Amino acid sequence: MRVELPEPSPDERAHSERLAALIRSEIEAANGALDFARYMELALYAPGLGYYSAGAAKFGAAGDFVTAPELGFVFARCLARALAPTLRETRGDIFELGPGSGALAVQLLLELERLDALPQRYRLLETSADLRERQRATLLLHCAHLAERVEWLDVPPAEPWRGCLIANEVIDALPARLFALRNEGLFARAVGVGEQGEFIWREHPADAALSEAVANTSVNIAALPQPYCSEVRPLLAPWFAEVTRSHEQGVAWFIDYGYARDDYYAPQRREGTLRCHYRHRAHNDPLILPGLQDITAWVDFDALADAGLAAGFALDNNLSQAQFLIEHGLDEVFAAAYAEAADEMARYRLVQEVKRLTLPGQMGERFRVILLSNTIRK
Ligand SMILES: C[S@@+](CC[C@H](N)C(=O)[O-])C[C@H]1O[C@@H](n2cnc3c(N)ncnc32)[C@H](O)[C@@H]1O
Repeated sequence: MRVELPEPSPDERAHSERLAALIRSEIEAANGALDFARYMELALYAPGLGYYSAGAAKFGAAGDFVTAPELGFVFARCLARALAPTLRETRGDIFELGPGSGALAVQLLLELERLDALPQRYRLLETSADLRERQRATLLLHCAHLAERVEWLDVPPAEPWRGCLIANEVIDALPARLFALRNEGLFARAVGVGEQGEFIWREHPADAALSEAVANTSVNIAALPQPYCSEVRPLLAPWFAEVTRSHEQGVAWFIDYGYARDDYYAPQRREGTLRCHYRHRAHNDPLILPGLQDITAWVDFDALADAGLAAGFALDNNLSQAQFLIEHGLDEVFAAAYAEAADEMARYRLVQEVKRLTLPGQMGERFRVILLSNTIRK
């Protein structure tokens, strides 16, 4: 896939080069080949340098991609309707992972206030100092009167809590391991350094952990064409256990793009699902522009359900985003917003937002909403 990408500014190039130097030193320490998952982790999260750890617009029109909460308020108002029963029942909290610009937090709080179902606390897990500041400013601008309910965490809560965990487009940003299935066997894909200092692909026979992770997908390897490249996230289950460790009662909502396992590892998807986003262009070369572009891989929803099960959760629902929105008040939210819209332009934007959220060729089918409920104290 060749895509023309806009040229980064000299400052952006310099920033990217600082991160590249750090990655090159890790590659050297790893004898010339760094597992792709570690490369992805550094490219996205190296302190002060990674894509999500350093300053830049990222989300929205001025950034690299647009997420559902960035499009407007429709997604959040429907999600509020989905969360309200649990919040009323548990009198609990919302714990949001990877809150981005803070747009979802703002709209959820305002809508839950209207629905008389405010959480006791709205807790945001955000490790980037930059994004925290952006979230704080957004919240103060739009719902200062609810600010005392909001707090930021560096790690998941230690003490028992009840309520709703939510994560929109977070799992796709968790580092993935890449594998290549060839006639000669299973290989791990890694990153090395070329003669000009550029990053290049390397491969070595799969280690035991990767072989086990691929075996756990129950994919019928014999039925796949070769070479066949894809991804696994062996750390998804430990991550799920960690973020829900002290969750006592309630539910977890995950919204992301992905496939059920059979579809994820379908024979025709032989180049995997890894994608990069740079200024609204999607392409599949993660080795360029480190720190300047987002790197994601689609979510295996069966792996997510398995991770939940292992942590004491049960799969309650798995809906396309369009179905989810329709089941949680899209009609009502749309009608009210349409009636209140200030002018023709506002009505036009609202219609565009709903189309983008629900049409099958846009976010309606590619995104799914997975509901897991805590069975420990259901
Ligand atoms: C694609 S952005 C989505 C942001 C936001 N949820 C939205 O919908 O606009 C992915 C977010 O996940 C966060 N993230 C990645 N790994 C995480 C982890 N282990 N725990 C919590 N958040 C994480 C990133 O820092 C980033 O803010």
